Amino acid sequence: MLIRRPPSYALKENEVTSPSAYLHRREVLAAFIAAGGILALPNVAQARRAAQHDYAPLTAAKTGYTVKDPLTPWDALTSYNNFYEFGTGKDDPAKKAHKLITKPWTVTVEGEAEKTGTYALEDLIDYNALEERIYRHRCVEAWSMVIPWIGVPLAGVLKKFEPNSRAKYVQFFTKYSRKEMPGTFWPVLKWPYREGLRMDEALNPLAFLVVGVYGRVLPNQNGAPLRLVVPWKYGYKSIKSIERIRFTQTMPETSWNQSNAREYGFYSNVNPLVEHPRWSQASERVIGPQTGFAGALARRDTEMFNGYGDAVASLYAGMDLRKNH
Ligand code: MTE
Repeated sequence: MLIRRPPSYALKENEVTSPSAYLHRREVLAAFIAAGGILALPNVAQARRAAQHDYAPLTAAKTGYTVKDPLTPWDALTSYNNFYEFGTGKDDPAKKAHKLITKPWTVTVEGEAEKTGTYALEDLIDYNALEERIYRHRCVEAWSMVIPWIGVPLAGVLKKFEPNSRAKYVQFFTKYSRKEMPGTFWPVLKWPYREGLRMDEALNPLAFLVVGVYGRVLPNQNGAPLRLVVPWKYGYKSIKSIERIRFTQTMPETSWNQSNAREYGFYSNVNPLVEHPRWSQASERVIGPQTGFAGALARRDTEMFNGYGDAVASLYAGMDLRKNH
């Protein structure tokens, strides 16, 4: 049985790392608006809804996982989202994700493992062992962010379930509620949203289960209360609001692959050499005020495996990455 520990968000504000180490919200918002309509920021009221201080602080250890580029401001990462369960517009999640009920939250574990069953979130995540990792976040739509996530390595959590020798893949499912998720009225994707990894990918130390961002509990639009982050893959692999985990023998279904297999493969590794059928993946638009003024778009060249090749390239040795895109 897993051990229940009190979540650290029960700590008082003065016991945790001050979020003032990060960019000040109002300055960030002003800078973001000054960036000149590069992103369709819905309006100040909506940005205020995602005000940083509205979210409980989390204590997390700093780690060596970082990048040299500036962080994407809080206001950008909480108002420019993909979470199709709330609509396909970038501002839909910020407007509608407050409808998602995230407490209490359970995760059901099934398939090829010894310890299957339904677990309370607090039994799965050791809130006393949270880490902060600053990762690059590259969307398949050729934009990118740099995000200070808070969470725990995925491998540690998966191992608690004791996957058996037939477990070659792991599949994740998002919560599915027609009532709480107005976007699921439309059959734009197969609901519930589902994603998957090969077991060796899932056990790679970079794969991260996230419960917070910027020193705070995760906002709903970013996938509260529990999401995956797989930084060497396109953002759609980083499934939000996970409610079910299934260990499988065969390659599992994934929502984007089911919707368009030609455009979205199972692996989905960031690869500047393999173009999306409708656009190039060679470079990316950097989201945030650093995009400059008067609509000038900051771009950067996309790196193989999103810059994480040293840690993950060996997982794909001998594979044709164009075929296995
Ligand atoms: N998870 C669910 N359940 N539904 C979604 O629509 N969108 C994905 C991914 N996870 C998505 C999801 C895509 S396309 C991206 S780019 C990232 O979430 C966006 O994460 P962010 O909004 O925190 O930047």
